[in-house]
Formats: sequence, structure tokens, C-alpha cells
Amino acid sequence: MNSPQTILKVEGLRKNYGGVPALQGVDFELTRGEVCGLIGPNGSGKSTLFDCCTGLQKSDAGRVLLKGTDITQWPMNRIAREGRLLRSFQKTVVFPTMDSEENLILAGQMARFPGIASTFSIGRKSRERVAALRERARELIEVSGLARVAHLPAGNMSGGQQKLLQFATMLMPQPELVLLDEPLAGINPILIERVIECIRTGNKQFGITFLVIEHNTDVLMDLSHRVIVLHQGQKLADDTPEAIVRNPAVVEAYLGG
Ligand SMILES: Nc1ncnc2c1ncn2[C@@H]1O[C@H](COP(=O)(O)OP(=O)(O)O)[C@@H](O)[C@H]1O
Ligand SMILES: [Mg+2]
Repeated sequence: MNSPQTILKVEGLRKNYGGVPALQGVDFELTRGEVCGLIGPNGSGKSTLFDCCTGLQKSDAGRVLLKGTDITQWPMNRIAREGRLLRSFQKTVVFPTMDSEENLILAGQMARFPGIASTFSIGRKSRERVAALRERARELIEVSGLARVAHLPAGNMSGGQQKLLQFATMLMPQPELVLLDEPLAGINPILIERVIECIRTGNKQFGITFLVIEHNTDVLMDLSHRVIVLHQGQKLADDTPEAIVRNPAVVEAYLGG
């Protein structure tokens, strides 16, 4: 049985790349409303786990259940649109000539109404839709602390600001579950605080469940309600941050190294 509190359930997930076993039978569950951290040494299978949950890669065995529905064979865009499960990539991508609001509205349009005709159609329905998207875009510009630079073409904003914009872009289509792959990589300490605030607000204000891969373990332990540790494609531990940092097997495999 799948409890309604369980938003994601992964069962016996396996993935090999040629002879390389990237995932060797991984099981875990995510509870609706939590922020869960995912750590592990380089090459332990963290990104592959995201790839297999979001349909970017086909797993060799095992199942992924989203809100009780088996999505293992679903293509990526269906998982994103119907499942409302989104992920970030390490590379930042924004439309450089558009300002923040335009980037956000376009993201909302593409996610909900991907047809070109509906995106650029005229008429009352379309205007109402854009007005609603504009309102959400403005709210997210506030949440992400971009108000001061929101009028600039996104290409003229700093790398960190673009990262914040991309984060806001992900929240436009009102996802229920977001997987973040190293959201703090390569950004300065002030922006780290901002991104953390955005994740916290997304979680508390919008009720979004997060699974976060992050090498900055101090930040991750502080942010997460629970932490899962991967090691050589297997789950090594799954516990509260306090218990994880005191787990000898984790310290040996990862934290101490
Ligand atoms: N697209 C791919 N093709 C071939 N091998 C891959 C691919 N993606 C990951 N791997 C391999 O799978 C293993 C797990 O990688 P990855 O999931 O990226 O780990 P992590 O994100 O924890 O660093 C590594 O040995 C890596 O080299
Ligand atoms: Mg990775």
C-alpha cells in the first residue's frame, strides 16, 4: 500500500552503464512536505538516481511510484507535466535577452501550454492566463530576491542571479516535487543564503517536497529534515541529519574522506 503521505517511492532501482553498476538496487520513500538531502561520494549514483526518477534514463530494474502511480516507463515530459515532478541540472540556462518576468512567464506557458499556437494566441482566455502567470512571476521575483535586477535582460545578471532566476523558473508550473542537483555549486556565500531561503520558502509557503543533492554538508544538514546516503550505488544510511553525522559507516565512506 502506498500511504497518501508518500509522494515518491523507489523500489529496487538498478542501472548499469556498460559494465559500470551506477545503481545496485536502491529503495527509499519521500514524504510529502519534507526536504530530504542526498549525499555520497563522487560516482556513488546520486545524479543517476535523479535521471531514473525523472525519465531521463531508463532503469534496468525496479520501480518508481509517484503519488502511488507507477511512472517507471513514463517519458520525461509526461513525468514533469502530469506528475508535477521537476529537476534542476547543474548547468544554468536562462533566456538571455528576456528580463526575469518574461523568462518566468514563458516558463509557465511552456510547462502548461506547450503548443506554440496556445502560447502566442490572442483573445480573452489567453490574456487571463498571462495575467495569472504574471502575478505568480512577480511573487517569485520577490521570493527569490531578484526585484532589484528583474528589469535587466537575464544575460546581464550575474551567474548567481541567473541561478536564482532558474530556480524561480522551476517553481512557475507549480511542481509538487523538485529534485535539485547541487544547487549551490559555484555560487558565492551570500547567494548560497538566498538559494537556501528560496528552498525553505518553496517548501513552507508552496508546500513543495524537495530532494537535494549537495556537497556542502553543513548547509545540507541544516536544511534537510532527513538525509539519505548513497555509496557505490547502494543506500548506506537514511536517517535524521543528527544521526547521519554520527553514523560510523557514513563517516568512513563519506564525511571523513
Ligand atoms: N551517462 C552516463 N554514461 C556512462 N556512465 C555514467 C553516466 N552517468 C553516470 N555514469 C557512471 O555511473 C556512476 C554514477 O555516476 P553519477 O550518478 O553521476 O554519480 P554522482 O552523481 O553521485 O557523482 C559513475 O561511475 C559514472 O561514471
Ligand atoms: Mg552528480
